[in-house]
Amino acid sequence: MEQLKKDGYVIEAVKNRGYLLKEDAARVFGRTEIESRLHTEWAGKTLYYFESTDSTNIRAKQLAEEGAPHGTLVTADCQTAGRGRRGRSWSSPAGANLYFTILLRPDILPDKASVLTLVMALAVAQGIINTVGTKEEETAGKGGNTDVKAEHCGVGIKWPNDIVADGRKVCGILTEMSLSVEQASIQYLVVGVGINVGKQSFPEELAGHAVSLEEIYGPVSRSRLLSEIMKAFEAAYGKFTETENLELLKEQYGELLLNVNRKVRVLDPKGEFEGIARGIRDTGELMVELPDGGITDVYAGEVSVRGIYGYV
Ligand code: BTN
Repeated sequence: MEQLKKDGYVIEAVKNRGYLLKEDAARVFGRTEIESRLHTEWAGKTLYYFESTDSTNIRAKQLAEEGAPHGTLVTADCQTAGRGRRGRSWSSPAGANLYFTILLRPDILPDKASVLTLVMALAVAQGIINTVGTKEEETAGKGGNTDVKAEHCGVGIKWPNDIVADGRKVCGILTEMSLSVEQASIQYLVVGVGINVGKQSFPEELAGHAVSLEEIYGPVSRSRLLSEIMKAFEAAYGKFTETENLELLKEQYGELLLNVNRKVRVLDPKGEFEGIARGIRDTGELMVELPDGGITDVYAGEVSVRGIYGYV
């Protein structure tokens, strides 16, 4: 009972009848909730939950240096120094969103590791669809939309690793890697994920292209979402390790890739250009068809890709 209270449940004693859980279950997020829902073999088996921390990526790296095992999951209700890509910060208020980082110790060469960000993007998209899709399906008989799951609920991936719902960004992923001294092998890798879950107002510069899951689908349980993502990630990671690339995942990733057959502008530091996105390679590059019909491969990390007619 004390642990449930710590995790945010509001519990009221009712005379002669025991206890009453008052808090909206979808909003509760804590160690007990997460542990009771996680049914994975290794992903998240070692779990660190913080009410508040600087950044789950920073914590995961510290834990890695102290010898934490492959699959260690670090999550927090709030981050005081959440970090995004390209040195940006990641707004991380309490009680609203999902922030987590998984520590990986893959036995692969460093140049194969960047694909793991795409593997996580796939797992996040699948986790969101499985969470909000079944929610919709549960209500389908009561006038809900039965096609929601089949159509991926409006959820997709903007290459390489932004998750988009109804055309706006709901999730960002930040992967960081530590190499051995001679740079020949990976010591560890941390993959950090931030998902806008609860309703919130976004800073002006993001307002047009950021959205939260609750705004689209209604309240979403963060612990359920986290467990669906871990389940999907464990399966996808297994397929990745079989080939050390996306060969076995390309079809699933491709089904969710929103850029396909759309015009994109590639913001390459060596010169911007436009083309039509045609899909991805096994190694994760985006294939872009140029106006002369030739295909060029765009590498994640070096460039960013913008839709011509909107965010995607
Ligand atoms: C992006 O800029 O799109 C990536 C954002 C990544 C944010 C997540 S929140 C959990 C983890 N901890 C951090 O400090 N950053 C990542």
